[in-house]
Amino acid sequence: MAYHVAQDIREARTLPATYYRDVQALHHLRETVFLKAWHYVGFEQQCPQPGSLHPLVLMPGFLDEALFLSRNTDGQLFLLSNVCTHRGSILVREPCRAREVVCPYHGRRFSLDGSLLSMPLFQEAKNFPGATDNLARLPLERLGPLLFSSLASECSFRQVMGPLLDRMAWWPWEQLQPRPDLSVVYQVKAHWALYVENYLEGFHIPFVHKGLHSALDFGQYSVEILDHMVLQTAPARKAEEGFQELPSDERGQRPAAFYFWVFPHIMFNFYPWGLSLNVVVPQTIDFTLVYYYTFVNRPERLGQGAGAELHRVELEDQAIVEMVQKGIRSRLYQSGRYSPTMETGTHYFHRLLALYSQSKLNGDHT
Ligand code: FES
Ligand SMILES: [Fe+2]
Repeated sequence: MAYHVAQDIREARTLPATYYRDVQALHHLRETVFLKAWHYVGFEQQCPQPGSLHPLVLMPGFLDEALFLSRNTDGQLFLLSNVCTHRGSILVREPCRAREVVCPYHGRRFSLDGSLLSMPLFQEAKNFPGATDNLARLPLERLGPLLFSSLASECSFRQVMGPLLDRMAWWPWEQLQPRPDLSVVYQVKAHWALYVENYLEGFHIPFVHKGLHSALDFGQYSVEILDHMVLQTAPARKAEEGFQELPSDERGQRPAAFYFWVFPHIMFNFYPWGLSLNVVVPQTIDFTLVYYYTFVNRPERLGQGAGAELHRVELEDQAIVEMVQKGIRSRLYQSGRYSPTMETGTHYFHRLLALYSQSKLNGDHT
């Protein structure tokens, strides 16, 4: 089913409640949007040495693509399919070091860059080996230690991330240290789009986040619509809790945080202590996982300002989003209206969802 959200926010109605109950719409979006998106796949230090192998699953429970990072003897990093090209066994089951990758099923051997080396008892096979006997290799892009890839991108990483990279050109990506000890996954009993649309407006901050509200100058909260991206920011109430790397404005204020959302499912939250990368992974129409990956460059600033107590803010958001999940089941609620000043980010997100609900699907994977 195709959805429509009017372009003029002053007269637009929100996505109808039926959207959040539409299983087909979620499957359609998985194949038309998520499959082509750029994804966070891990960080450089997960493959520290020549011969390091690190298995991962891309968007577990949704895209479920088995991959692994591999560093060859020259130190070059590859992202490869973790599925054997013979009969589909998983190859690498846990992080390890190896000289080559050997399939546990029938012994097919691959080099660390994914090329087929040998296969027992295939001497009589014709046209073997061919290109499809090598492991599929995916593109790998870096922002400091963070690694990104796509299964079927139609746009380059630079195109997708351009507005963020331009605005954050001053950001010291290379200084970020991965902190798995501060990383966490949240379970949200709600449709993934309810989670994202809540993220895209600061309208609820005074009502839902009393602590965060006291750290931000809410009167100066700004939302900027970029290409398939939204940037929200606000100055810190106390200038010393903002980014010291940036000049203060005419009021003597400094930004408290930069909240970038990249369509459809990644949030880059920049704080004076570092980066909280949030990845939203739909599971079903009413259940979503949200991964928080933490990277720190100034540990002495952890626990200060808008980037303090992220766990509490997350739980406050989840509680409200789970209430909306109950609300959209009502037969008496169909859709709502937008605040033309406070909900431009949510309106843009709904417009994109409506737009992509009309896009053509190649093949039927639903
Ligand atoms: S599935 Fe890998 S060798 Fe058979
Ligand atoms: Fe919130």
